[in-house]
Amino acid sequence: MPLQTEASTIRSASSGWTMNPRIQDWHGKRIWVIGASSGIGAEVARQFLAQGARVALSARNHEALLNIAAAHKHALVLPLDVTRHAEVSAAAKTVLQEWQGMDLVLLVAGTYNEMRADNFDLSVANLQMDVNVRGAFNCLDAVLPVLLAQKNGGIGIVASVAGYSGLPKAMVYGATKAALINLAESLYIDLHPRGNAVYLINPGFVATPATAANAFVMPALISAERAAQEIIAGIERGCFHIHFPKRFTNWLRMARLLPYRLYFWLIHKVTGL
Ligand SMILES: NC(=O)c1ccc[n+]([C@@H]2O[C@H](COP(=O)([O-])OP(=O)(O)OC[C@H]3O[C@@H](n4cnc5c(N)ncnc54)[C@H](OP(=O)(O)O)[C@@H]3O)[C@@H](O)[C@H]2O)c1
Repeated sequence: MPLQTEASTIRSASSGWTMNPRIQDWHGKRIWVIGASSGIGAEVARQFLAQGARVALSARNHEALLNIAAAHKHALVLPLDVTRHAEVSAAAKTVLQEWQGMDLVLLVAGTYNEMRADNFDLSVANLQMDVNVRGAFNCLDAVLPVLLAQKNGGIGIVASVAGYSGLPKAMVYGATKAALINLAESLYIDLHPRGNAVYLINPGFVATPATAANAFVMPALISAERAAQEIIAGIERGCFHIHFPKRFTNWLRMARLLPYRLYFWLIHKVTGL
């Protein structure tokens, strides 16, 4: 029976019924964090380095990457702009030359701006699309052939709860994150049977340089350290959908199931917007 065959393939490719293989030890693992110069990505990189992983750090801010890598002999610093395909490809080649493979690629790079219909800004909107979406495509182009050839190793995409459903002030940013959520789901369908792990990472509000300028009270705000711990713990457990903090993200996950009339009423009631 094809269905039974598929189910048993899924069971054996993962550990038990987890959606991705569990990971118990990061020592020596080859991890490429793209968007590692500040905030969530920098913390994830620091925590992986502290656990003995080999970590390649990428983003535009070379100096910030050097500071994070300092004193870690297993760190590789590969500055790049995700909107520049050639830079991403060249960095991927360097990772392969140095390590002959990749165990995990984390796409964290992103840009965020508040926007509403009455202050729509085409250049800001295009920048968010270029970094958040086209940047992810550039990274996929560089790493997918590697992961597929290896038949192991995984890719994690940091989207956002803003991608679940429309939210006030998240115009365009939310749309880019919705695109990433859909992308990660499609990637899972294609990569999981081929032996590759895929992680969809949806943080709630995290205190980072990106959110520092928010003029509103951010509900259930957590630190970048806590966000990085949640991401790493979720990957270790073999989760596909890693979302946190649950007291906030579960509320939004329930809200998205409501009929639109009720959903819009609830969001207006809660945010006043
Ligand atoms: N903070 C939150 O509340 C929150 C919630 C949900 C999702 N997220 C997502 O989490 C990710 C990290 O955000 P964060 O809050 O940690 O913000 P952040 O501190 O501003 O970090 C953004 C990272 O992306 C990199 N980046 C931006 N543009 C880039 C480009 N063109 N090329 C290469 N790297 C680039 C930045 O490095 P350089 O500037 O050095 O290039 C930096 O390392 C983003 O995708 C964001 O959308 C954040």
